[in-house]
Amino acid sequence: MKIIGLSGSPTPISRSNWLLQQLLAGIESIEGVEVLAPVRIRELSAQHLLHADLSDKALTEALARVAEADLVVISTPIYKAAYSGLLKVFLDLLPQDGLHGKAIVALATGGSQAHFLAVDYALKPVLSALGARDTLDAVYATDAQVPKDPAGAYTSTPEIDDRLARAAQHIRARVTQHQAQHAAHTHLSTIKSGTPARAEALHQAA
Ligand SMILES: Cc1cc2nc3c(=O)[nH]c(=O)nc-3n(C[C@H](O)[C@H](O)[C@H](O)COP(=O)(O)O)c2cc1C
Repeated sequence: MKIIGLSGSPTPISRSNWLLQQLLAGIESIEGVEVLAPVRIRELSAQHLLHADLSDKALTEALARVAEADLVVISTPIYKAAYSGLLKVFLDLLPQDGLHGKAIVALATGGSQAHFLAVDYALKPVLSALGARDTLDAVYATDAQVPKDPAGAYTSTPEIDDRLARAAQHIRARVTQHQAQHAAHTHLSTIKSGTPARAEALHQAA
């Protein structure tokens, strides 16, 4: 199962991106998981993003990696009671059903709990419009729940560790489900491709 992280913060040292990195680090060793190179939208060309100009190789490669993924982990800061504008300009470049068939995990950080529901009322309708139907539980953290350690690096609090561990468990369950579906599909294809040969063999034996 291919998993990609999509980071929507314009800030170079970002709490929501840190949250994303923590989750990806926690799932990369799950058997059957392939973590694709994350898309940090701030590193893409602003000019190409804002002008919806797909002549930029890095941008088209980022869009292709999202298309390739089975599960997308999207992280964003809460800006003005919604997700970031940077994330929106990237989502606007996905095809109309660009998230169809993909599982989604949303991660968000905000200054306080006040806009905790922004993931539900702002981000999820957009994901749904892009075809996403399988949205796993989101992880929301306030800035106080992702403090800096004395060296200035972000660190987690036990409640955020718990939420990330739960998100990782849900992803693990999706991986198992994905593998079972893949195995059933392969089995069915084998039966289908074997049927004419068996029928022919039976015919000749008769
Ligand atoms: C322009 C701007 C708008 C913000 N608006 C909100 C907001 O409406 N609600 C909120 O809870 N936090 C708000 N914040 C705080 C950020 O969401 C918070 O600091 C977040 O952790 C930043 O994530 P980042 O480090 O990944 O960029 C805002 C911050 C900025 C810079």
